[in-house]
Amino acid sequence: MKKTAIAHPNIAFIKYWGKKEDELRLPANGSISMNLDGLTTTTTVEFSEAYEKDSIMIDKENLFEEADRVIKHLDRIRALANITTKAKVISENSFPSGTGLSSSASGFAALSVAASYAAGLDISEKELSILARQGSGSACRSIPDGFVEWLDGATSEDSYATTIFPASHWDIVDIVAVVSQEKKEVSTSKGMGGADTSPFFETRQKHMTQKIADMKDAIKNKDFTVFGEITEAEALEMHAIMLTQKISLIYWSVGTLQLMKHVKKWRAGGLECYFTINTGQDIHILCQSKDSGALQGKLKEVPEVTRVLLSRAGMGARVIDTHLF
Ligand code: PMV
Repeated sequence: MKKTAIAHPNIAFIKYWGKKEDELRLPANGSISMNLDGLTTTTTVEFSEAYEKDSIMIDKENLFEEADRVIKHLDRIRALANITTKAKVISENSFPSGTGLSSSASGFAALSVAASYAAGLDISEKELSILARQGSGSACRSIPDGFVEWLDGATSEDSYATTIFPASHWDIVDIVAVVSQEKKEVSTSKGMGGADTSPFFETRQKHMTQKIADMKDAIKNKDFTVFGEITEAEALEMHAIMLTQKISLIYWSVGTLQLMKHVKKWRAGGLECYFTINTGQDIHILCQSKDSGALQGKLKEVPEVTRVLLSRAGMGARVIDTHLF
């Protein structure tokens, strides 16, 4: 059977950095995110006896590095569906992959949905989220709609994401300022392995529960100032862990740093915006809908910015009728 799904990457306001269990990807702490409706991964999967081996094509290339991880994920789904049939997978991103824009989140969310349905599974949102998490942790947050919480959980069955507010709850805007097309030097999975080697990791864990509660309140109350302050401080805290890991990770470029300073300056000048950054050089800037035009105008004046990608809160992963092959 052939099925196609689309999914959006998500931006974490409270981040996942560090695992309590590697193989199952159980996170050290819970996290909060929003799906990004302006960025999309589309994936078609077909299981057929006609295929002698799995074939994977991402963004029109046969990417052998990622293929192993995708085939492992297909194996999880084949085990659930009790089949051994090989699959053809074609996936396309509407945005640059491997530069910190979380293509693995939307990628594994779309793959989980398309492959599960193509394998004939009748599977709940919670089960899809648990499945997607095992492909790439943050992918579990791209399964449900809108504003999402990933419950860290003590076991695989307890570690999944749910909607805390629908996409329509709050009209905030995420603008990605692309400052590089270069792929990151250290992958997220590899980098995250060393999180607990930072002397600050334990301290971070101690206040995560409170921070998550405060963030949920800020989103519930649509308090953009509290939301923005927590979000920006959280991104800097995660990067403080990265910078102090053994071996240290510096994901920023000159352009990233310049934009961090610009955001603070624009904010001091009355344009309320806040940044957050993942494992890449590109920077997400959050603002209220009314300020989005002014912020885009400011970004046009920054020479390091090669492209801007605008999103509002988006839906979760879902099946569509148009196939890629
Ligand atoms: O799911 P992964 O392995 O791509 O890890 C995501 C890690 C961060 O993007 C840095 C933080 C997050 O919570 O999205």
